[in-house]
Amino acid sequence: NALSFLVCPRPPAVPFASVSIAKAEYNVGEKIIYHCQPGYLYQSGKWRYTCPFTGRWPSISIKCVAPKKCNQPEPLMNGNVHFTGLDFMNFANYSCDSGYILRGYESRLCQADGQWSEKLPKCHPVICPPPPVSEFSVLSYQRLKPGNISVFQDEINFQCLLPYVLFGNETAVCQADGNWSALPECKAVECSQPEDIENGYIYLLLRRAYRYKETVTYGCNPTYVLDGPTESRCEKTGQWSTKPICRAPCAIPVKKATVLYNNQKVKLQDHFQNGIQHAESIWFFCKNKEQNCSYKVAAQCDDGNFTVPACFKERGWFASYFKTDIADLSPCETAN
Ligand SMILES: *[C@@H]1O[C@H](CO)[C@@H](O)[C@H](O)[C@H]1NC(C)=O
Ligand SMILES: *[C@@H]1O[C@H](CO)[C@@H](O)[C@H](O)[C@H]1NC(C)=O
Ligand SMILES: *[C@@H]1O[C@H](CO)[C@@H](O)[C@H](O)[C@H]1NC(C)=O
Ligand SMILES: *[C@@H]1O[C@H](CO)[C@@H](O)[C@H](O)[C@H]1NC(C)=O
Ligand SMILES: *[C@@H]1O[C@H](CO)[C@@H](O)[C@H](O)[C@H]1NC(C)=O
Ligand SMILES: *[C@@H]1O[C@H](CO)[C@@H](O)[C@H](O)[C@H]1NC(C)=O
Repeated sequence: NALSFLVCPRPPAVPFASVSIAKAEYNVGEKIIYHCQPGYLYQSGKWRYTCPFTGRWPSISIKCVAPKKCNQPEPLMNGNVHFTGLDFMNFANYSCDSGYILRGYESRLCQADGQWSEKLPKCHPVICPPPPVSEFSVLSYQRLKPGNISVFQDEINFQCLLPYVLFGNETAVCQADGNWSALPECKAVECSQPEDIENGYIYLLLRRAYRYKETVTYGCNPTYVLDGPTESRCEKTGQWSTKPICRAPCAIPVKKATVLYNNQKVKLQDHFQNGIQHAESIWFFCKNKEQNCSYKVAAQCDDGNFTVPACFKERGWFASYFKTDIADLSPCETAN
């Protein structure tokens, strides 16, 4: 039988495809399988063929194609995408920034059709539970979002209802770990009766205890001068803020002299029997003997301390009668 000697030749080449068993000739009835070369994709057609009695391969329909590249994967809001390439079978991996949780697929695969598998995932912010409000603290807070939901980076502001006082930071932030930053506390604050001051008094001291921010007003006895704030306030610490000091007047250890006070020449003995008040100055006249002239030197009362300028010479009874008062000498030319 002549037909039984017929063989099929080498099967036709198909782009991007190979044949299972590559030979120069095939017997009638022998089967071959085409497959796409690595990296190429089956698109359509038959892959199995049998060498027929005619010894001629039927038309080969299999088609293999090169896969398409994927487009750059979409960026993720509040997250990142990592990928090494845009070829078939490459991954695009998504992750979220701190404070966000990924919902959806973390990895997308570049498919043969050039599309990334799956949908773009989403990064949802972390939710912080409503902050705890203990029954003793009187925190009140304003919600920023409807539905009582606070998410990453949301802030809430706390207030304490009087007479409670807020300790800590009045603002708390929803953190990446879903916890609130340190919450403030509300505590009752009382200051005990304010202290007296020396040589002074407190106006209208009526109560034993005072609340935070309440004030008392200080005053000084006559001739004493108040130094510092007039008011003292009950502070968060339960202590009073700095109270003022009553500064003492100064006696002037000179019996007689003509001095300058408020730019006026006055007789010491007439004006300052009771001394001068704290922080006030008087000017003494000193004599420059060489030039027969006078210059003035200031002396200030400092809380009861008063130092007469060293150059000042108090005159005796005789001199004060018969000599020109130093204050009446012509002023020295050179400033002293
Ligand atoms: C993406 O994730 C896959 C699967 O988890 C992993 O095999 C691959 O190495 C990752 N690729 C990149 C670029 O991170
Ligand atoms: C939000 O919280 C307040 C007080 O905790 C509550 O009265 C209110 O019903 C809550 N609103 C919603 C929408 O959950
Ligand atoms: C209070 O907290 C906010 C938010 O965390 C911060 O910006 C601010 O500096 C804090 N204030 C103080 C006084 O610590
Ligand atoms: C968040 O708060 C809980 C409860 O107080 C605590 O157990 C947890 O350690 C906190 N997480 C972090 C990251 O601080
Ligand atoms: C006033 O004098 C007293 C006693 O000499 C002294 O202790 C005090 O420091 C002086 N005050 C001033 C403000 O100089
Ligand atoms: C010094 O000057 C006064 C007038 O300013 C005069 O009366 C007196 O005589 C003078 N004394 C001397 C020593 O020059």
